[in-house]
Amino acid sequence: MIRCVARIFVTRELPFEALDRLRAEHELDVWEGELPPDPQALRERVAGADALLSLVTDPIDAAVIAAAPNLKAIANMAVGTDNVDLEAAAERGIPVGNTPDVLTDATADLAFALLLALARRIPQGAAQVRDGEWRTWEPAADLGADLAGATLGIVGRGRIGAAVARRAEGFGLEVLYSSRSSGVPLEELLERSDFVSLHAPLTPETRHLVDDDALARMKPTALLVNTSRGGVVDQAALRRALIGGTIAGAALDVTDPEPLPADDPLLEAPNLLVVPHVGSATVRTRARMAEMAVENLLAALAGREMPYGV
Ligand code: DGY
Repeated sequence: MIRCVARIFVTRELPFEALDRLRAEHELDVWEGELPPDPQALRERVAGADALLSLVTDPIDAAVIAAAPNLKAIANMAVGTDNVDLEAAAERGIPVGNTPDVLTDATADLAFALLLALARRIPQGAAQVRDGEWRTWEPAADLGADLAGATLGIVGRGRIGAAVARRAEGFGLEVLYSSRSSGVPLEELLERSDFVSLHAPLTPETRHLVDDDALARMKPTALLVNTSRGGVVDQAALRRALIGGTIAGAALDVTDPEPLPADDPLLEAPNLLVVPHVGSATVRTRARMAEMAVENLLAALAGREMPYGV
């Protein structure tokens, strides 16, 4: 049997064993930079590729797809595909794969970690100790919020939202959901929740879902957690809400843009914790994501359906 060797552009060095399986069958062209290729470099390098293994950092837009006349498969090493122009891919009949399920628990863990860190003021406490400001045990300082008995509003009823709800049960939280098709109306969720955790994908409908109006509905004691996509929150509105005391705090794993520049005005806001998009960043999860991306490419290049097709 004649095997066709495809040329696959991989947009970053990926130190995962799964890549050896790709290398065994195909020719890999791996982007050599530590940072993602810029749009022009991306277009140039994808031009001669038969397949693409991309990351959330790579905008695979219509121009990139048009620049690659031989492209037959795109495997995005992420569950989110908002960085890929799915319509442009579909018009060319290019299958797109993602990595669902495998990062559900890791992301839900991080949402909970952020919630606990905010509720119990962990970053502030750690900074106090480091800065030599821990004077004594104080009866009424460093006070946070209780989780047990409080209400957690989960926006988005997908796999990650459900995994957050399971954790919430263990902490004695009452859970409210709001999604496009079920749960309570978003307005009600915002008004009733002590904590709000965002798990909606970024789409034209969810862009800036959390805006001035949404924030104004939240309790002044409420805390917001976002581990979905930065664009779901209007960051200028969030900055206003934190500075003005409309809500009590926010923790973000995702921002718009990413990375968030160190001089971004949002970072002037009080009670804001930002971490660098690490929801899926565990050893096992990232290795499995790489495997799934590889499985998607191997299948598509062999003329089979992607096992994790979008
Ligand atoms: C995803 O998979 O969509 C995450 O945001 C990156 O791991």
